[in-house]
Amino acid sequence: MKVQLAVNGSEVSADVEDRLLLVHFLRDVAGLTATNVGCDTTSCGACTVLLDGESVKSCTVLAAQAGGHEVTTVEGLASDGEMHPVQRAFHTRHALQCGFCTPGMVMAIVSLLRGEPAPHRGAGTRRPGRQPVPLHGLPQHRRGRPRRSAGAGPRGEGPGSVRVIPSSFTYRRADSAAEALDLAAEYGEDAKYLAGGHSLLPLMKLRLAAPGVLIDLGGLRDLSYITDHGPHIAIGALTRHHDIEHSELLGSQLPLLAHAAGQVGDPQVRHRGTIGGSVAHADPASDLPAVLLALDATLVASGPGGGREIPVAEFFRGFFETALEPGELLTEIRVPKPAPGSRGWSFQKFTQRAIDWAIVGVAVQGGNVALGNMGPVPLRAAAVEAALAGGAPPAEAAMHAADGTSPGLDIRASSGYREHLARVLVSRALAQATSGS
Ligand SMILES: Cc1cc2nc3c(=O)[nH]c(=O)nc-3n(C[C@H](O)[C@H](O)[C@H](O)COP(=O)(O)OP(=O)(O)OC[C@H]3O[C@@H](n4cnc5c(N)ncnc54)[C@H](O)[C@@H]3O)c2cc1C
Ligand code: FES
Repeated sequence: MKVQLAVNGSEVSADVEDRLLLVHFLRDVAGLTATNVGCDTTSCGACTVLLDGESVKSCTVLAAQAGGHEVTTVEGLASDGEMHPVQRAFHTRHALQCGFCTPGMVMAIVSLLRGEPAPHRGAGTRRPGRQPVPLHGLPQHRRGRPRRSAGAGPRGEGPGSVRVIPSSFTYRRADSAAEALDLAAEYGEDAKYLAGGHSLLPLMKLRLAAPGVLIDLGGLRDLSYITDHGPHIAIGALTRHHDIEHSELLGSQLPLLAHAAGQVGDPQVRHRGTIGGSVAHADPASDLPAVLLALDATLVASGPGGGREIPVAEFFRGFFETALEPGELLTEIRVPKPAPGSRGWSFQKFTQRAIDWAIVGVAVQGGNVALGNMGPVPLRAAAVEAALAGGAPPAEAAMHAADGTSPGLDIRASSGYREHLARVLVSRALAQATSGS
């Protein structure tokens, strides 16, 4: 397929395989080799570039998804031979180890600083007696690699070079919900919707999923919104975690949801991942499903037979299984505003590393208590809620947090440890929710 991007202000286009990842487009087609592949599994951030000004991990974005958009790599930061202030700060503070990840770090920081006051420009670009660091944006750091010809596919770069890439598929872009449904009907069970791609593409790169067709929903901008409907707030399924985190409306009316969205992964993940994708993916360790359960949300889906509403309590059916019928498209999430007297909230998440999924997660809104990763689906802690309704003090009610759950065992935690965590986190969450109500 033909992909055209604006890279560092210049149009770059090529015929590429549908499965080509943005990082390989930048390196092989555009000849911009400062963006490196580190982990190749969406964790390290070495491949970070800006897509329409926001940081993304280019190993987890298809070149096709970026088509028609603006990409900035570290080579595009310097102007007139002058380093960007972030590059200069790295240089003067010698803030690097081998330099391999430095371009990704620089791009992540540039994105984080957007909207903040301009960093102090400091003095000079180079200190006497020091080696120039590989900041790649300056002419002396460019290697001038020849560009690969059009038709580039996801090949390795030399002996021993292995790329983590999805198996082949056909990419189709939908420009409306109706077109997405038509494409789903045309391709049947071989097709999967692609929203942010931050659950599906990692699975495809690890060959744990191999759909024959991806229907990209990225063009459905009319499904990205947050609107006030009086008693409830409606959120389009394509609304990104980043937009939920920063929504003033949600911050004032549903702070639990806004706060929890800000705990999903890292900024790069939140710039791509969507609430609809998170819910439809139905990973029991995900944050937003448990939060929507605590908030008694309703999900709206569209299918060949028309639209329907599904209460969130009936949506999750098992590990990665939902009530969505094949080809059905999640279009909206409706979240009721908490009643006066139920406004205390808390979100607790115990993780191994900063950007991780929850080993156990807890969402509390008023007297509603939901648990993440305490079984194959997010659960309401019914025994805790009953104890609270019966007048038990929060700390005592929290002791029932593991009742009726069936937490799994994995390399991060035993079932017993998860039960312990649930009691501790529910106790903390209830204390915080009570003090804030
Ligand atoms: C490094 C990393 C860290 C992460 N950390 C966390 C974390 O801490 N907490 C957390 O909760 N999540 C985390 N995630 C997952 C992230 O939140 C994903 O964005 C989210 O789970 C999926 O959203 P998406 O838009 O990327 O969906 P996609 O990956 O595009 O799709 C996921 C699934 O949902 C289906 N789908 C998507 N949209 C729709 C729709 N509108 N209708 C019907 N089906 C649809 C797709 O077909 C696919 O099966 C992390 C991901 C990564 C890569
Ligand atoms: S290479 Fe590590 S996140 Fe992309």
